Amino acid sequence: MRNFATTLFAVIISTLIIGPVAAEEPVVIRFSHVVSPDSPKGKAALRFAELAAERTGGKVRVDVFPNSRLYGDKDEMAALLAGHVEMLAPSLSKFRVLRISDFEVFDLPFVFSDLAAVHRVTQGEIGKEMLTKLDKTGAIGLAFWDNGFKQMSSNRPLRNVEDLAGLKVRIQPSLVLDASISALGARPHPLEFSEVYSSLKAGVVEATEGPVSNFYTQNLHRAQKYLTLSDHGYLGYAVIANRNFWNGLPSETRAALESAMRDASVYANQIALEGNAAALEAVKASGHTQVIELTSDQSAAWRTAARKIYSDGKSVGGIEPELVARILKAAE
Ligand code: LMR
Repeated sequence: MRNFATTLFAVIISTLIIGPVAAEEPVVIRFSHVVSPDSPKGKAALRFAELAAERTGGKVRVDVFPNSRLYGDKDEMAALLAGHVEMLAPSLSKFRVLRISDFEVFDLPFVFSDLAAVHRVTQGEIGKEMLTKLDKTGAIGLAFWDNGFKQMSSNRPLRNVEDLAGLKVRIQPSLVLDASISALGARPHPLEFSEVYSSLKAGVVEATEGPVSNFYTQNLHRAQKYLTLSDHGYLGYAVIANRNFWNGLPSETRAALESAMRDASVYANQIALEGNAAALEAVKASGHTQVIELTSDQSAAWRTAARKIYSDGKSVGGIEPELVARILKAAE
């Protein structure tokens, strides 16, 4: 008893004199994105957070902010460069604001017949080269993540290319998307992702395009009567970090985060495939939106109309024809 009292007394005195042993504060990474936590990107960001904590032994904590809660399409890049957040995963259609137009090559319609074709580009030499384009900005490119192929929704059934005539379609802010939607006879209208649901409801736009996982997790099936499985393009992401922050991390921590990113990327691409399939089933089961499958003739007509923007070998959206040719070859 006496010993215990003596020890307790010693602890109290030492705490008063030197203070409690300070626990090391983790480095915090704020990872902001615009989609639902239940979407493929939302889930992959959370997986990265888990792996980052695990592999750094708790030295890094990743706080994920979904649904444009912290920053939206308009201001997230500026926030990253200013160091208000440390990580983002914007769609490849949203990099022109950093003066990188080449990423819009992924917006070209009907280039990739499946995700394996996408991966030959994103996981290969071209992908590596493309991420280094970010070196001239305050960002650093860490990985490509899939969402998937885009479908077209509307309040009128879209089967033949003529059905799209004059339709006001929400697009992401990409010149290649602008050209593609125009080539289909519709009227492209760029809008922030967070505004899509309300803009469809208010009639600001009549239609939108995107992977089914985004369609379902944003409740767009409650705003659109028809969903045409057009597979007319691809939507994927570049995961990026603030360059100074990333390069300023102790090398051991950075290596642990790179390993976490590698595994999170494998997971991201797996969950994207599964998430889009599950979302399609959920849309069908909801009974709100009728899903339309195109006949092979209808699909071929969409393809011919949309591919006009690059099949003549001219520059589109400022992208050099050489890059388009390389992508087409790799995707073959
Ligand atoms: C969109 O704006 O439609 C997409 O970029 C949203 C996303 O991040 O998947």
